Amino acid sequence: MTTEKTGTHGAVLQDKAPEKDAPIVELRAAGKSYGNIRALHGVDLKVFPSQVTCVLGDNGAGKSTLIKIISGLHQHTEGEFLVDGEAVRFSTPREALDKGIATVYQDLAVVPLMPVWRNFFLGSEMTKGPWPLRRLDIEKMKKTADQELRNMGIVLDDLEQPIGTLSGGQRQCVAIARAVYFGARVLILDEPTAALGVKQSGVVLKYIAAARDRGLGVIFITHNPHHAYMVGDHFSVLRLGTMELNASRDEVSLEELTNHMAGGTELAALKHELSQVRGVDVEELPEEEDLTAPVASSEGKS
Ligand SMILES: Nc1ncnc2c1ncn2[C@@H]1O[C@H](COP(=O)(O)OP(=O)(O)OP(=O)(O)O)[C@@H](O)[C@H]1O
Ligand SMILES: [Mg+2]
Repeated sequence: MTTEKTGTHGAVLQDKAPEKDAPIVELRAAGKSYGNIRALHGVDLKVFPSQVTCVLGDNGAGKSTLIKIISGLHQHTEGEFLVDGEAVRFSTPREALDKGIATVYQDLAVVPLMPVWRNFFLGSEMTKGPWPLRRLDIEKMKKTADQELRNMGIVLDDLEQPIGTLSGGQRQCVAIARAVYFGARVLILDEPTAALGVKQSGVVLKYIAAARDRGLGVIFITHNPHHAYMVGDHFSVLRLGTMELNASRDEVSLEELTNHMAGGTELAALKHELSQVRGVDVEELPEEEDLTAPVASSEGKS
């Protein structure tokens, strides 16, 4: 028997370890149309605890549409969406959050001038004292925020500093630690490294791994196959609204993943075109045969 308790956001926390082979979130032939536009169709995806599932794809491939369905912002119009094996249809992000599905958007919802600890508890402040004398428990919030950030290995000099003074990477890390603290089981990150430099990206990747090690199922959206391959356990590549590759780490190499992302045939055509332009060095690009060669692991894998 399991005793259930609820996290601060009402997410159900289970005392028993989650089953490794049962996905928390699953999409089966899911799709979404915006009026006449079919943004996504036939998408299969499984998100397991303690794994990083990477969703890659070019601009307009349908990545944001996919996470909007899972995070409760939009509803799917085809196929099935299951959480813990049960078909669901969220009408608000709150419902997703109540199931433990937290999303960290690129334009983080923070108040730049408020201290770090205040942002950590934004919307879910700790209070003390009986009503009507209830007031914010500032000491406890500061202490908890400090402890939670440290638990994730994030050390900030001063939690009193406005969150706006932190770097983009640090802010992402605070958002990740916050989701973990509030009982997230699935953490969705929409292109967290897109606007970051090499070093800061590395820091964010480290905390993605830390969230995974704490048992969360992480959905990592990115354009960058190198970032994906550094932390990913599973890779799904979207192309024009469909899943063109679904492979686990041992089924695909970084080269193959990069090739899929680049769109081998298109890159080969581009290389040919560029070679006609003076002053462009195409020597560094892979050979055309390599670019167009079929990738063995792209089919029949789930
Ligand atoms: N609200 C909307 N109404 C109509 N069409 C939409 C809407 N949102 C997205 N689309 C269309 O759906 C397709 C997929 O868009 P989506 O934003 O999911 O792509 P993406 O992979 O996130 O791209 P990017 O890398 O640029 O963020 C695009 O063709 C887009 O024009
Ligand atoms: Mg997007």
